[in-house]
Amino acid sequence: MGLFRSLLLLLLLALSAVASAAPFHSLLRAVPEDPAPGRSTDGEGVADRLFCDSWRLSVETNDAGYWRTIPQKCLKFVEDYVNGDRYASDFDVISSESLSFAETVPIAGDGKDVWIFDIDETLLSNVPYYAINGYGSEVFNETSFDEWVDLARAPALPASLRLYEELIGLGFQMVLLTGRSENQRNSTENNLLYAGYHSWITLILRQTSDLGKPALVYKSERRAALEAQGFRIHGSSGDQWSDLLGLPLAKRSFKLPNPMYYVD
Ligand SMILES: *[C@@H]1O[C@H](CO)[C@@H](O)[C@H](O)[C@H]1NC(C)=O
Ligand SMILES: *[C@@H]1O[C@H](CO)[C@@H](O)[C@H](O)[C@H]1NC(C)=O
Repeated sequence: MGLFRSLLLLLLLALSAVASAAPFHSLLRAVPEDPAPGRSTDGEGVADRLFCDSWRLSVETNDAGYWRTIPQKCLKFVEDYVNGDRYASDFDVISSESLSFAETVPIAGDGKDVWIFDIDETLLSNVPYYAINGYGSEVFNETSFDEWVDLARAPALPASLRLYEELIGLGFQMVLLTGRSENQRNSTENNLLYAGYHSWITLILRQTSDLGKPALVYKSERRAALEAQGFRIHGSSGDQWSDLLGLPLAKRSFKLPNPMYYVD
């Protein structure tokens, strides 16, 4: 481009910036303002969806910390998300990142190279239960959730089932570590088999002595016990930070999405 044309372009840009600061400003404004009273509910819907999407990010990054129920105005957003392509896609991407890491791990062949999976919202989906219980907008009801667990009909999360098979193929041992309690062992095993899982070397459930322990403490203690038995914990997959944080850590931890509930 010639010098003259470059100068002309600069001049035009400078002029347009001065002349149209207001329109530029409105183009650049990313967040819709709260709709004024009397405006169509469409604007409100867009603002809510944007808020809920950002809220979901804050939940996944653990910036939100502990929360008890989803924001009431995000019920439809969460419903659409867990039933839509995005939830499946998020699982697909995280599973393939997990697999990329797994492929770099040298497997000793002594049966001590393990991958830990949480169960609920990691291997199994409780979306059918949450669909009739407000998608996390209602306070957790342990009685009705236990009734659902006893049915043993939670479907597999497809990307997790694929990853599970691939990890077995690479030579990893599968360890399942769940906050469910020992008296749910039978229904949990039945459900895992129903959903297509198999060949885990251990299914660790909360014992009576674990009741009342924060999930993070209980799960860290169990990882420590595994290491004491000589297991090498390469990867850990869970939908809660409390599945993954606390010492000892797996070499790599993979946080799966869950905008329906938070476990301390
Ligand atoms: C919790 O679920 C049980 C069993 O479905 C039900 O009887 C009970 O009313 C529920 N409790 C609340 C507070 O909703
Ligand atoms: C465990 O589940 C199997 C299969 O559904 C059932 O036949 C068996 O009675 C159950 N056992 C216990 C102790 O509940």
